[in-house]
Amino acid sequence: MNEDTTDEKRRGFLVKLSLGLAGLAAAVAGVPVLAALFAPLIEKTPQVWRNVGLLDDFQIGTTKLVTFENANAEAWAGVTTHTAAWLRRDADHKFTAFSANCTHLGCPVRWEAGAQLFMCPCHGGVYYKDGSVAAGPPPKSLVQYPVRIQKNQVQVQTSPVPITNISA
Ligand code: FES
Repeated sequence: MNEDTTDEKRRGFLVKLSLGLAGLAAAVAGVPVLAALFAPLIEKTPQVWRNVGLLDDFQIGTTKLVTFENANAEAWAGVTTHTAAWLRRDADHKFTAFSANCTHLGCPVRWEAGAQLFMCPCHGGVYYKDGSVAAGPPPKSLVQYPVRIQKNQVQVQTSPVPITNISA
């Protein structure tokens, strides 16, 4: 066997070994990236009922800010585990809960009882009493949360913070 043939075999083996190791490294690095990319499509959105107050805490016809823990609260998130909603008692056992986040870029909106409007301080977004857009850049109505009454407790069904139009 001559020396050239041995070198070519060794070179061929090293090329295959390098390609194999590179492929293995790419697979090891790629799996977490692919998992992170596709996880939101596969994971179910957590939705949790949170207590926001007793029935008697709310007067019929008024809109009040309530705070509660996020549906997907992480132990390390600190104060960011809490979110808020504007809760209106429409009738004895009828409530409407609006997300406190503007549908434009997510700033917190405030309820102006005198004007019967929700106002966003960031870019002048204005919403009517029913949450529909009255003026400004918001692309759609305020998000509403389901509300129920359980044993005299008013509960809001939470889901991850509905910031909907971050590309605008
Ligand atoms: S974030 Fe509310 S108008 Fe822009």
